[in-house]
Amino acid sequence: MKELTRSQRENVKQSIFPASLFIVFFIVLLLMSGIHTGLIVLMHKLERNEIMQVIIPMVYWAVIAMGLTIYTSIRMKRTYEMPMKMMAEATAQVAAGDFSVYIPPRHAADKLDYLDVMFRDFNLMVEELGSIETLKNDFAANVSHELKTPLAVIQNYAQLLETTELTEKQKEYVEAITGGTNRLASLIYNILKLNKLESQKILLKPSSYDLCRQLEESILGFESIWEQKNIEIEVEMEESAVIEADKELMEVVWNNLLSNAFKFTQAGGMVSLRQFSVEDAVVVEVKDTGCGMSSAVLKHIFDKFYQGDTSHSTEGNGLGLALVLRILQMSSGTITVSSIEGEGSIFTVRLPKGMEQEGKEQNI
Ligand SMILES: Nc1ncnc2c1ncn2[C@@H]1O[C@H](COP(=O)(O)OP(=O)(O)OP(=O)(O)O)[C@@H](O)[C@H]1O
Ligand SMILES: [Mg+2]
Repeated sequence: MKELTRSQRENVKQSIFPASLFIVFFIVLLLMSGIHTGLIVLMHKLERNEIMQVIIPMVYWAVIAMGLTIYTSIRMKRTYEMPMKMMAEATAQVAAGDFSVYIPPRHAADKLDYLDVMFRDFNLMVEELGSIETLKNDFAANVSHELKTPLAVIQNYAQLLETTELTEKQKEYVEAITGGTNRLASLIYNILKLNKLESQKILLKPSSYDLCRQLEESILGFESIWEQKNIEIEVEMEESAVIEADKELMEVVWNNLLSNAFKFTQAGGMVSLRQFSVEDAVVVEVKDTGCGMSSAVLKHIFDKFYQGDTSHSTEGNGLGLALVLRILQMSSGTITVSSIEGEGSIFTVRLPKGMEQEGKEQNI
């Protein structure tokens, strides 16, 4: 969309007040006052009492005033309210991150008013924001992609070094290199995955599978961490719960929620994983007795690169929950969080039941 030229801007109508209202009011009032006079004459002739002579004209003018009010409100709605509502809806969509919004023009290019200009500028702004967002995402994805190869080389040589004879100091250095490269590899993996999910480059591959088995496998993957931190584990789930979802992506969801629970729970705390079924959904709850979150932190936890603890004393890069949210949005699932600072958090995921599960329940 092109920007308006200076002369086009100068020719813009500066008021959208419908001047034709005056003509409508004038004609209506003229006609009605004629009828009013006729009404008075008629009442005199019919020799109506004085009270009726006052009440009837009052009712008559009240009806006319009501008619004029309705007419004016319809005109105002068309001229101001409807365009403003359109603008409010479009702004809300942009605020939610949708840059495909477009408000269609209301008048031809030579009959623009200031609202048309505002819409045009809004469309231009959204277009610009959308291209900046695409550029930013593409840049992050391209850089991450380019980093993959040199990183793999560093990781491989660090692994090779680990197998040779090293002094204590050298071992320490190699471990630092391996730790750093692993963190970088996970950042690159998350950036690329999120970028693919956001640009719809990943097509879901849904299949019917038993969620309980997947949850079991997921939590067992954290065994070394809960043993090392002496965290108590509580698992409660049904025998089986079939869902229809992309198994590989759902694994990312459980691993991220559980890794957060273990990461933010102090030694000696407790993490519980609960799964149960309700009418048309399967619910998974990941609860911990960790540090919890303040309401200010809670507001942003699903934002990309957001970390509640800005000191970076805890590992990670703030992409875990952004990935979780995107995957659940694509899988018709939902996630809710409740947390008390200093006491712990509960993340609750709801997923629609798979066919088999629904069938099973109906057969009972
Ligand atoms: N169970 C939890 N208890 C307390 N705070 C949490 C919990 N889960 C998430 N948070 C807060 O939300 C922030 C964002 O979480 P997210 O998983 O996106 O990032 P991360 O865990 O810091 O890094 P990454 O997941 O990329 O390794 C965390 O930094 C933390 O402040
Ligand atoms: Mg995380």
